Amino acid sequence: QKIGIIGVPFDKGASKRGADKGPKALRESGLIDEIKQISSNIDVKDYGDVHYELMSSNGRKIHNLNELNHVAACNRALAERIEEILNDERMPITLGGCHSIAIGSISGVVRKTAPDNMCVLWIDAHLDLNTNTTSPTGNMHGMPASLIVKELRSNWPFVPELEWCKAELSLKNFCWIGLRSIDYYERLSMEKYGIKYFDMRDIDKMGIDKVTNAAIKHINPNGDKKLHVSFDIDALDPLFANATGTPVGGGLTLREGIFLMEEVYKSGTLRSMDLVEVNPQLGDARDVTNTINSAKAILYAALGNNRSGNTS
Ligand code: ARG
Ligand code: MN
Ligand code: MN
Ligand code: MN
Repeated sequence: QKIGIIGVPFDKGASKRGADKGPKALRESGLIDEIKQISSNIDVKDYGDVHYELMSSNGRKIHNLNELNHVAACNRALAERIEEILNDERMPITLGGCHSIAIGSISGVVRKTAPDNMCVLWIDAHLDLNTNTTSPTGNMHGMPASLIVKELRSNWPFVPELEWCKAELSLKNFCWIGLRSIDYYERLSMEKYGIKYFDMRDIDKMGIDKVTNAAIKHINPNGDKKLHVSFDIDALDPLFANATGTPVGGGLTLREGIFLMEEVYKSGTLRSMDLVEVNPQLGDARDVTNTINSAKAILYAALGNNRSGNTS
């Protein structure tokens, strides 16, 4: 199992500062060494952090896209790093950063995979499917999903800064888990496009085992597609992950989150992953420790860590 870790110290898609400190906090808490301890079959390489330079801009300001120049430049650089990791035949794991970085991470994966050969599990309290005309905030961490799917392409104006990002995926290959905070126009899109999702109410009714396996089955019925998981730490309840920019109560327990990722690992289809919105500048010291420990437990489950003990 060959893994490539890439950090994205970037928070300009969010309104609160500090998600850019996520990768450093995760690394300093021992992430890389702990990954190595999961199994001797794991070969992990740390690709360091993404660096970017602002592109020259024509100065035209597009409505309601906060920090567009930074979001565009950072994601363009990230997409190239993801491509590099895939060329090295490693599984890219992107440490955010705010969730806007999924624009670049998923765009990078799409460059190496036919869009119909991949599927996306979006684990989040939020849908992140706004466009600049529907977003109540203008924060681009609430928009990444809409920039990478073809169904919403015509809802976007021409944004030269994002021309490199081709919206090629279909919402048919997406499923959301953990939803509990959806904006008005996002709700309309869910109905219009028949978006597949399991919200917190579905988890209450069905349980996390049925939800997880129904979600995986829905987007990958034959198990032949490559799975990308975009895991926003705010999917977890603030009890377990309060150091994040937009916490919403009534979320997944840490155990549900771990179980979900254990099932993802067992599916044998995981090919790339984002772990985003850890913000060590929010909450008190205990919140920060809890959030980092939760994020690591989620990631280790995705990489095959076994709660009954590891054998290799
Ligand atoms: N829906 C809200 C917005 O568009 C919140 C999005 C929060 N996104 C996140 N990745 N935490 O601003
Ligand atoms: Mn979220
Ligand atoms: Mn999100
Ligand atoms: Mn607190």
